[in-house]
Amino acid sequence: MGMLDHWQPVARSRDLGRKPEPVVIAGNQIAIFRTESGQLGAVADACPHRRLKLSAGKVIGEHLQCRYHGWTFDACGQGESPGAPKMTTCTTSYDIREEYGLVWVKTRDSNPRFPTLDTEGFIHIGTLVHDAPAPLELTMDNFNEIEHSGTVHANFGYDLDQMHEVKVNFESTDDSLRVINVGPTKRLPILDRFFVGIRKGDLFHDDWTTWFSPLHSQFDHWWTSADGKEERKVRWRVFLFYVPVTETKTRVFSMLYAKSRWPIPGGGLRSIRWYIRRQTRQEIDADIDMLQYLADYEPGLAGLKLSRFDKSLGLTRERIQRVYKGEQQRPTLRALL
Ligand code: FES
Ligand SMILES: [Fe+2]
Repeated sequence: MGMLDHWQPVARSRDLGRKPEPVVIAGNQIAIFRTESGQLGAVADACPHRRLKLSAGKVIGEHLQCRYHGWTFDACGQGESPGAPKMTTCTTSYDIREEYGLVWVKTRDSNPRFPTLDTEGFIHIGTLVHDAPAPLELTMDNFNEIEHSGTVHANFGYDLDQMHEVKVNFESTDDSLRVINVGPTKRLPILDRFFVGIRKGDLFHDDWTTWFSPLHSQFDHWWTSADGKEERKVRWRVFLFYVPVTETKTRVFSMLYAKSRWPIPGGGLRSIRWYIRRQTRQEIDADIDMLQYLADYEPGLAGLKLSRFDKSLGLTRERIQRVYKGEQQRPTLRALL
């Protein structure tokens, strides 16, 4: 499996209208489009005639028309030239589908599992898109670690002076990593405190799992009484999909969900969706902002002084190499002997 062989999101459905859109996965430029009948197409974003970007063209009926000389291509990449009707051409096309309000793309000849998201009982709050100015590994490192919540985040996490009390539990399988953090919650903004029902001394639970085909994490956030027995009223679930655009840029799709036990319609979530979206956007903006200050963008871990919160970093890299990029691991000395 190579990087383009996994189903991965490239755009929100609502951002793909009548105009074709350029998207990039691991340096591969792809034009996605929606035909008049609603069928989706994804083709290499370079016209086989003289390499104009097909995403600069327009949709006519069931075809994408190149802006330069008017050649047209269907969703399978079959092309025709109005100036040379006897000549046929074909360009690379991709599998494309729409699920969970996102447009997903993969190569034609791969057969990966489509990611299933467990949203049972949750209400969709919104889906955000961010571009991180960092390589895939460093972007994932940021989201897969809670230690920075003491300094970077306001709406969840642990205060710096209680960070040492946080218990970190770590589980891994061949193709997933799970971390469960539990500790005294930081003091949240008053509206959040009230809506979630958080009391002084409560515990904050941060339970996340990352998978590697495609690259995505599920984060569950909830609060309980100090003995862990009584859960407060609202629980958040966020799915993040990480898509490498280039070696120094990673696109992050964040799908926000929530579950509330307030005894009113929709648990009161629908009326404050805008507020939750705004808070979440601010938090992810803060993460992205932090990434611009990295001293260098070398994804290797050599020379770093890692903390007890960073145990997943090495395993993440191993799984990105093996599961996502499909690269063979170098045999160890022990295996050679
Ligand atoms: S470059 Fe596309 S039709 Fe000529
Ligand atoms: Fe963060």
